[in-house]
Amino acid sequence: MSSAFENTIFDDPILNVIHLLNSIAQENPEAISLASGRPDDEQCDPLLIDRGLARYKDHVAGTEQSLATLLCQYGKTSGIINEIIASHLQVDEAINVSNPESIVVCMGFQEACTLTLLSIFDGGGVLLVPDPVFSGITGIAKLLGIKIVPVPMTVFLDPIALRRLIEALESRGERIKALYAIADFSNPTADSLSHDGRRAMLSLADEKNFFILEDTAYRYFRYEGDAIASMKSIDSRRVFLLGSFAKSIFPGLRMGYVVAPEGAGVMSFSGRLCKAKSLITVNTPALCQAVVAGLLIEHDYSLKGLNQPRVLSYTKKRNHMFECLEREFPFKVGAQRAVSWNHPAGGFFINVQLPFVFGYSEMRECARLFKVIVFPTSLFSLMNEATTQVRLSFSNATTSQITQAIGRFRAYVEFRLQ
Ligand SMILES: Cc1ncc(COP(=O)(O)O)c(C=O)c1O
Repeated sequence: MSSAFENTIFDDPILNVIHLLNSIAQENPEAISLASGRPDDEQCDPLLIDRGLARYKDHVAGTEQSLATLLCQYGKTSGIINEIIASHLQVDEAINVSNPESIVVCMGFQEACTLTLLSIFDGGGVLLVPDPVFSGITGIAKLLGIKIVPVPMTVFLDPIALRRLIEALESRGERIKALYAIADFSNPTADSLSHDGRRAMLSLADEKNFFILEDTAYRYFRYEGDAIASMKSIDSRRVFLLGSFAKSIFPGLRMGYVVAPEGAGVMSFSGRLCKAKSLITVNTPALCQAVVAGLLIEHDYSLKGLNQPRVLSYTKKRNHMFECLEREFPFKVGAQRAVSWNHPAGGFFINVQLPFVFGYSEMRECARLFKVIVFPTSLFSLMNEATTQVRLSFSNATTSQITQAIGRFRAYVEFRLQ
């Protein structure tokens, strides 16, 4: 191959994360996987497609609009269900979107974040990301040639340390344009920002003049405690809300959206978002928009109602995984626990701390010899953080698979500690 195609951005490990996962699963078809953050297959009910579409058709029949034009023609770039998404945000989040055109309906979070980055980073600047973090953001930022500064998770969660880091960057002449945040139950570490943490981050954004890209993919999956207000609901002016229906309805729809910042004196980004979208996907498939809109209308615009069965099922799975971890890695009186884990109140993941390094080759070894696939948290890191951590996903395993998988993982840990 010509050297022009070697050692390019396409060789960057962050762009390889999904491929690694798939190849290990293919090499070990009999292994149980706790590696992928897919929603539960059992919650992906194709009947939702028929129900959503039928409900949307009824809705359109009660208006002056033509269903043929809406569903069959090229559609409006920003989307055809913006007002319905605005109602959902009002009902579930007390977010008042004053102009529905501030919403651009996208093909999943992934397109929403691509358009948002394109609209902000024209002319350069720095994107701050917590580290480790979902490779969907770091991968696309790298592909777009955006300068990324990873922020260790401990700094990201501590407003004083974050301010220090930002000021150090500024003193080196860096122009910070945005910070990506999963405020609720992050991927991979399941960390959340407290209410005070959110407020402090917003006031820092205001003072230092940068935007926050708030990813709410896991927000509707809280299993205990009270919800914390989203950053968008606290201060719309500083926040691009990046929403996804991948977990809250299902990923096959490829449905998501971005809500641009709004408020007095705030620059409108919707024109930029739409220009970029018109050259990337033209418009989001109307059929997929119709299904989402119909389901939202059917549930009085609330994803909370729609997701209640899912939340119950994931709560059981999470609790079951906690029980299995307790059983397989018991606390020994007088001794430190060799294996420990966090206790997230929601999301799809539990992050486990091991007494040894666990990277890609260990992941392969564990899959090959012990028939369980678990994901090294460090593969989501740009700075080789979290080298002894493992992300366990409970979302798409049955309780009996979780029991077996954690037993097999304990056998692997014993093998390593021999
Ligand atoms: C942090 C995070 N954001 C967003 C998404 C959903 O992305 P999309 O809507 O593109 O499927 C995921 C899915 O894994 C995720 O982990």
